[in-house]
Amino acid sequence: MSYLEKKDPIIFENVTKELKRQQNNLEMIASENFVSEAVLEAQGSVLTNKYAEGYPNKRYYGGCYVVDKVEDIARDRVKELFKAEHANVQPHSGSQANMGAYMTILEHGDTVLGMDLAHGGHLTHGHPLNFSGKSYQFVSYGVSKESETIDYENVRKIAHETKPKLIVAGASAYPREIDFKKFSEIAKEVGAYFMVDMAHIAGLVATDLHMSPVPYADFVTSTTHKTLRGPRGGIILTKEKYAKALDKNVFPGMQGGPLMHVIAAKAVSFYEAMQPEYKTYMKNVVENAHQLAKSLKEKGFRIISDGTDNHMVLIDVKSSFNVTGKEAEHLLDEVGITTNKNMIPFDNEKPFVTSGIRVGTPALTTRGFTPVDMEEIADIFYETLKNKEENNNVEIQQYRVKKLIERYPLYPSFNL
Ligand SMILES: Cc1ncc(COP(=O)(O)O)c(C=O)c1O
Repeated sequence: MSYLEKKDPIIFENVTKELKRQQNNLEMIASENFVSEAVLEAQGSVLTNKYAEGYPNKRYYGGCYVVDKVEDIARDRVKELFKAEHANVQPHSGSQANMGAYMTILEHGDTVLGMDLAHGGHLTHGHPLNFSGKSYQFVSYGVSKESETIDYENVRKIAHETKPKLIVAGASAYPREIDFKKFSEIAKEVGAYFMVDMAHIAGLVATDLHMSPVPYADFVTSTTHKTLRGPRGGIILTKEKYAKALDKNVFPGMQGGPLMHVIAAKAVSFYEAMQPEYKTYMKNVVENAHQLAKSLKEKGFRIISDGTDNHMVLIDVKSSFNVTGKEAEHLLDEVGITTNKNMIPFDNEKPFVTSGIRVGTPALTTRGFTPVDMEEIADIFYETLKNKEENNNVEIQQYRVKKLIERYPLYPSFNL
């Protein structure tokens, strides 16, 4: 019997249920992944007990000589991984990474140009209910109606008109390569700082499958838990000239004690991301996404921007089969496929309904899924969504999902 089971059976029961849910469903949320057992072990370690406000060798608590080493290793590894001059590995999440970067260069009320949330931007890129939208004056750029890709000439035009202090590139729902060089040129033209939130594509950047923002941006932020396949958390990369100011704005600016157990787990995931197997994994992620987009198209789904360059596919389910994103998410859930409804560019539906769903291949690829499986999954999507009024053989689709899952066991050694 485990410690948890003995002490707190109800939480143990729910942890077990969540393990089973992850094992028994097709996880296709583009921002999720399955970390290694080593990452889990580091995150579940006694490092959680240690207070370590400050930075290595400059702490406000005694007894930090061990965790100092851990944080130094994490910083060195992530700098090597992304070829960055300076790294802060303390942000508790992607949102806090963005807050740390903003606080370093912006004053309340400053103008920031970011991607429209309805076109793929993130909450922290100016949503009115988010700290970003409340603290700063966000203006936005979007994608062109025809190509559904970023219209750089339009970005330039808006930048010249609004003279932002900061331009933010990066997105939560954008399936195409982003040209960071072009963005940085526009930022230079208008005298703006340039920041890239590479949360979704960090794994592609680490393996040279996407242009790196590091040479072009003043600040690069990321989560560590998406394609990068680490624990939940954030990082900020920057140039040496901003290092001191950035560190001061993360602590004491916006956080107290760092989560040393999470920083240890981040370090493990950075190590893993430097290995040749990870490069192969990321190549497979992209290959699977390509195949998925292609197979879905063949089945009659309209794919936003007509394809993908990265790990995600945005599907216009409304125009394809007259189901809303909300309905599609629910129908797919029923057969054991986990996705999320998502706004598509120029969406007529409300954010809680949407015309689209966003799917990604990072988690399935971690389990070992291949392009042949993507063809099968596209067909399950079609059979499940083609006619919402009819019973689309839910049991048959559930059986097909079950068969796929059995082929690629997840955490087989876990015996909760
Ligand atoms: C582009 C982008 N930035 C930031 C975040 C925020 O990360 P977190 O949920 O860890 O705060 C996300 C999360 O979805 C994201 O997609």
